[in-house]
Amino acid sequence: MSKIAVVYLSTTGNTRAMADAIADGARSRNVDVEVKSFYDWKPEEAAAADAIAIGSSTFHYTMLPPIEKFVDKLVGAGAKGKDGAAFGSYGWSGEAPIMIAEKMRIGGMNVLDPVLRVQYKPNEKDLKECNRLGKDLAEKIKK
Ligand SMILES: Cc1cc2nc3c(=O)[nH]c(=O)nc-3n(C[C@H](O)[C@H](O)[C@H](O)COP(=O)(O)O)c2cc1C
Repeated sequence: MSKIAVVYLSTTGNTRAMADAIADGARSRNVDVEVKSFYDWKPEEAAAADAIAIGSSTFHYTMLPPIEKFVDKLVGAGAKGKDGAAFGSYGWSGEAPIMIAEKMRIGGMNVLDPVLRVQYKPNEKDLKECNRLGKDLAEKIKK
């Protein structure tokens, strides 16, 4: 079965809620999905999935150094040519998901639109959009 890795950094659970909704959407399309914090993923392990979704909230107009290092390692560990998605909760500027998408694209990944950004805690509509993104990513790798 095709597999999607969902990786996130979340301090108060907002980006985590997005990750869970993306995972639920993908699962509804019958692909294998593993969703965990980046602390619990090895970059090579996530890179080995058929598609990879990476999310981070924004701090001080950027992403935190540990997730930045993680993304660099993951993209360098064989994710080239794979489908990906970037997402994250933010407060007022929301740079992190855009930076993640940029790193994925530079590394040769095909990043789905939209790069999903939600202000603070995702509401019902936001979670539906996350669901949709998960479904779209699953459909991509089922082909
Ligand atoms: C110390 C601190 C710095 C932050 N800096 C930014 C920022 O520069 N830009 C922004 O959009 N949000 C910023 N935020 C807001 C967080 O991105 C926002 O609260 C987000 O919902 C947290 O999501 P999480 O629970 O997934 O970590 C900051 C929050 C904190 C606590």
